Amino acid sequence: MHIYIHIPFCSSKCPYCAFGSSTDSFNLVERYFEALLFEIKNSTLNKISTIFIGGGTPSVISAKFYEKIFDEFRDFLDIKTEITTEANPNSATLKWLKDMKNLGVNRVSFGTQSFNDEKLKFLGRNHSSIHTKKAVLNAKKVGFKNINVDIIYDTKFDDKKMIEFELLNLAKLDLTHISAYSLTLEENTPFYNKSSFKKDSVNLAKFLFLGLENLGFKQYEISNFGQICKHNLAYWQGKNYLGFGAYAVGFKDDKRFYSPKDIKSYIKNPTFKNIENLTKSDLKFEKIFLGMRSKIGVEAKILNELELKRAKILVEEKKLSYKNERFYNQDYLLSDEIVLFLVEI
Ligand SMILES: C[S@@+](CC[C@H](N)C(=O)[O-])C[C@H]1O[C@@H](n2cnc3c(N)ncnc32)[C@H](O)[C@@H]1O
Ligand code: SF4
Repeated sequence: MHIYIHIPFCSSKCPYCAFGSSTDSFNLVERYFEALLFEIKNSTLNKISTIFIGGGTPSVISAKFYEKIFDEFRDFLDIKTEITTEANPNSATLKWLKDMKNLGVNRVSFGTQSFNDEKLKFLGRNHSSIHTKKAVLNAKKVGFKNINVDIIYDTKFDDKKMIEFELLNLAKLDLTHISAYSLTLEENTPFYNKSSFKKDSVNLAKFLFLGLENLGFKQYEISNFGQICKHNLAYWQGKNYLGFGAYAVGFKDDKRFYSPKDIKSYIKNPTFKNIENLTKSDLKFEKIFLGMRSKIGVEAKILNELELKRAKILVEEKKLSYKNERFYNQDYLLSDEIVLFLVEI
């Protein structure tokens, strides 16, 4: 099974970010973790393949709060279980990294965003490029072998020179994985509708992808490069997963489960879920959408006659390839257009 745990606390709110988190609820941390424990104890666990602790910022919370949660999971873990935590470069101290590693975490993902301090300031980050270098070094020091760094590109600061600068710095860190996200101007954030904040340049994205491939990070999804993250792969393959914590989302068969979207309501009722029923056509659309954005591809047998005909046209145009009864996208930047062309809505 796959498990996501949401930690909805951040030391400051980045103006582009729509993830569920609060900067002024640290007085609720203890009760939040009690609620998390209650929710986990009330769920049915079996053998765990992956755990992802995301946020928010898991590294603003002392590792001791995670201990009881890991006690619940212990019997269901084995040496192959991938356990990731997200972390901010400035709050992931050597001690925190060491303590999390001792609990069983074996993959760490740093929200670096950039190595350029001006771009970091624009993104409202409260760390500088030195913090990332130190954090990665510390992660290695305590024995992490699987390290990811997130960067954001396509901001108004990005041009070929900036991308080359980011690549140069990424290369120096000797990482196993890089997530490169194109800046999204999310609704209900200060960046919403600020179209001048974003370049919308396909050429820049291609330049970045090529640079990452040249560094040895093979692209396996529109935003992901390097040693495959098993947890994310499970999402894209449509596998079931449990979501624990406020703002968390879970998925089972044809249902999506939404936890309360604020910390206080979650603490009051940690097992409450809003349930979304997904139709067959919702599930099929998701399979096609996620498959075309990643190396998972799309099974031919889920397509109807007309969609198959269209997929074959795309194979002839070399936009898709076909192998072992699956269609594979050749250019993830075209995935939206390809899905729109393929699917009968
Ligand atoms: C859930 S966030 C948490 C990571 C951690 N709190 C941090 O910021 O360092 C995961 C990643 O999503 C990306 N992200 C969040 N909002 C984004 C946006 N509006 N556009 C592009 N990437 C975004 C950032 O790269 C971030 O590191
Ligand atoms: S990007 Fe990370 S640190 Fe910034 S507000 Fe979002 S979750 Fe918090």
